[in-house]
Parts: sequence; C-alpha cells; structure tokens
Amino acid sequence: MNLIFIGFRGTGKSSVGRFVAGKMGREFVDIDDYIENSAGKSIEDIFADEGEECFRRLEAEAIIDVVRSDNMVIATGGGAVISDDNVRAMKENGFLVLLEASLDVICSRLLNDTGRGSQRPRLTEMTAGDEIRHLLVKRSGLYHRSADCTIDTSLDTIEDISKNVIALFGDIE
Ligand code: S3P
Repeated sequence: MNLIFIGFRGTGKSSVGRFVAGKMGREFVDIDDYIENSAGKSIEDIFADEGEECFRRLEAEAIIDVVRSDNMVIATGGGAVISDDNVRAMKENGFLVLLEASLDVICSRLLNDTGRGSQRPRLTEMTAGDEIRHLLVKRSGLYHRSADCTIDTSLDTIEDISKNVIALFGDIE
C-alpha cells in the first residue's frame, strides 16, 4: 500500500515524506516535482502560462500515474483533495496521512520561505495572509474527510513526526 501525505502548503508533506521514505527504504515521489518533470516547466510557469485549470488537469493525471505503483511514499500538493476523483484514486491503494499545522506556523513557514516554496503561485487575489486563512477554512473539511489519520507538525521535529507516521502506518499494514 502507498503512504500518501495530504495537507495545506507549509505543513511539511515533502520534508516528512522524503524522510519517511528514507527510513522505510521506499521510493519517494513528490507530485509537484512529477508534474514539473512531465510538463518540462515549473508549477509557477504552468500557472502563469496556462492557468490553474490546466495545472489541476496535470495534477490529476500525475496522481493517477503515480498511485498505479505500490509501496511508494507520496507527497501531494495542497490542492490535491479538491477533486473527488483524485481522492478516490489515492484511497484505492493508499493510506492518507493529513499533516496539519497552526495558522501562525503555516504563515511563518510560507512567508519566510526563501527556497523553491517562495515561488508558489498565488491562488486568489487576496493578500498572502488572507489567502492562507481563506483556503484553510475552505479546504479543512475536504482534508479531514479524505484523511485516514492526522498529525500536527507545528511543534515536533521531522524525525519525531516521521516516527509517529511509521508507527501508525505499521499498525494498519
Ligand atoms: C497548491 C499547492 C502546491 C502546488 C500548487 C497548488 C495548492 O503544493 O501543488 O502550487 O492549491 O494549495 P504544496 O502544497 O506542496 O505547496
């Protein structure tokens, strides 16, 4: 079974996913990286050139492709749960771990990110802080409805979070 991380931007899906995969000796796939490699351009450029609708189509295709394999650790983009089809595909052969963090922690991680995350495309016309608040409220039900378990990443280290994930997943496998 695949181990799949869902959750909002800045909750640690990619960092925890990569660490967990290393510990479990499993292959790790980040859906955003997969989309960028398939499209031959960055997420930011896909949004700028072709718009969000096109990105969501590429995201759905990437999810279908990746979940076809077994025994993977997969980090999804924050909007993957918007589509019921995506959630259905992931749940067919996946244990979905929702990573959460407090609003303050998410804001500080996203607004202080100087790496690749700083290029995340904006999803609304709102200010950055308002967008985060708005989308968290809007998506909260979708995240919780899709998740098999939930872990808060606000305070713990990646090592401790990963230990919890591996223990939870070990119990269901
Ligand atoms: C998105 C989150 C991003 C990326 C895209 C859209 C979203 O992934 O898929 O920018 O809708 O929340 P991360 O959650 O890895 O930042």
